[in-house]
Amino acid sequence: MIREADWYRKRSFYQIWVRSFADGNGDGIGDLYGVYEKLDYVKSLGVDGIWFSPLYPSPNADFGYDISDYKSIHPEYGDLNQFQKVLDKAHALNLAVVMDLVINHTSDEHPWFLESKKGRDNPYSDYYIWRDKPNNWKSILEGEAWEYDETRGQYYLHLFAKKQPDLNMDNPKVREEVKSILRFWLELGVDGFREDVITFISKKEGLPDGLPFIPVINGMPHYKDGPNLMSYLKEFREVCREYNAFQIGEGPMTTVSSVLRYTTGEGKVLDMMFSFDHMLADCLFTQFVRRPFSLIKLKKAFSKWQHALNQKGWNALYLENHDHPRIVSRYGSNRFRRESACMFAACYLFQKGTPFIYQGQEIGMTNIRLRDINHYADLSSRMNFKTHFQHENDEKRMRRIHHSSRDSSRTPMQWSAKRYAGFSTVKPWFYINRNYKEVNVAAQENDSASVLNFYRRCLSLRKHSKTLLWGEYKEYEPGNEHIYLYERSLGDVRYLVLCSFSHISRTVALPRPYRDRKLYLMLCNYEQGAWDEKARDDHFAALGSVLPHRITLQPYETRVYRCRL
Ligand code: NOJ
Ligand code: CA
Repeated sequence: MIREADWYRKRSFYQIWVRSFADGNGDGIGDLYGVYEKLDYVKSLGVDGIWFSPLYPSPNADFGYDISDYKSIHPEYGDLNQFQKVLDKAHALNLAVVMDLVINHTSDEHPWFLESKKGRDNPYSDYYIWRDKPNNWKSILEGEAWEYDETRGQYYLHLFAKKQPDLNMDNPKVREEVKSILRFWLELGVDGFREDVITFISKKEGLPDGLPFIPVINGMPHYKDGPNLMSYLKEFREVCREYNAFQIGEGPMTTVSSVLRYTTGEGKVLDMMFSFDHMLADCLFTQFVRRPFSLIKLKKAFSKWQHALNQKGWNALYLENHDHPRIVSRYGSNRFRRESACMFAACYLFQKGTPFIYQGQEIGMTNIRLRDINHYADLSSRMNFKTHFQHENDEKRMRRIHHSSRDSSRTPMQWSAKRYAGFSTVKPWFYINRNYKEVNVAAQENDSASVLNFYRRCLSLRKHSKTLLWGEYKEYEPGNEHIYLYERSLGDVRYLVLCSFSHISRTVALPRPYRDRKLYLMLCNYEQGAWDEKARDDHFAALGSVLPHRITLQPYETRVYRCRL
């Protein structure tokens, strides 16, 4: 693909978690045959790229984030040949393809680890982090961060699951392996990488103990943003630069100062990073520790990042991915599912940055509630249930699981009201949400008021507006507990986005600059007049009107106005 500098900024991406996207060969598991069939659908959304969660061979202890071969495709998903077909078709549709790069750890079934554990004097013995005596770090997914290996007679570090041993990035041979992985995929033609927990790859020398009484993340100060991180990322950047490839970093608890360090200036080593503050508006650190949803918190997080990166870096915008429950069930309303799902689209797609949309988000999929903890596939859900809040009864802890489980975003994609939601012709590998007969792509395709078509309109509006792509961001009424109001401006063009987070009607003052002027309604999830896209321009000329100084929004209503000042 031909790419200009910073080509990814204009684009928007669709994230595919392949196992639950579309089953093309009838074994109940999503795969690259299914993806191939659905590429036209992806294109029809108006996105310009795909991020694939890991497609590599993996024992699936952490569903692909435990890789046993970096240069191949999981046989359940297809093979390299099928991947190439998907890549070529995606490129023909002008969809960029971003792979997941997981290099903080491998699977314990990766040949490197199988060799490494054999002894202390083979070529792979220093590929991982081995110690005679473990420190007190906790793992993020599974108990203690160290596991004893009988054969080697030492402990290995795993910041995530036991089956995810951490690589020793201080070993230059390991970094050469990473570069060879990058080249392998770049040579095939991929356009970039989403880099998994990339801020953890350099550990502090001596691996000092963390604070004893903090659960899960006690060691983080010693492995996050570590001493050699910049220099390792620089090495990887050089390879990516040869191909003008896009690099987006991921890592828990990103701070503004670290994101600016990695993504700006001459020595920048990543193009952008995911931040997490806006994912904490209804919880403390993890969803498992619930708090009432606070719109004020959410707005603070949005505006903090919009301002912090303005004119310096670039935001990665998202509300869902494979690590978080569904946004409608979290910050929205099941009762006003359609309205709130549309409102969420407008509340983030028009911020400044590159939007990411997670499969199923565009039809307003919701959380599942399984009765038995053993029915959950995600190991972090099971771990949370078994280790935290033990003073509570099972029912209460199950309720926490219903709100927090990553499995809610990993149920099969709901394509139609047919058996198995049109995802597969046989029983799928995982539970389908019971609401699939009502919430599915087919039902929404021809409904102009659907969530799906609202996403399409939003993405098209963003793509065709310089103001929405590049304009300045400004928030109004930050103290309003029910309504999020923001503006994008460039030259004399202004967009005003109003989003109600309330289940009852709410009134808000029209910001001063918009009073006594003609405003054009570009989008609304209630106004029927705004649905007909073709007639839009004529329509809006007609609809352009001076609004009263106070506007009443219906439950979860969103409106986008445009005007010239
Ligand atoms: C972040 C990934 O998004 C998540 O799914 C995974 O469990 C951890 N990193 C470990 O790879
Ligand atoms: Ca399959």
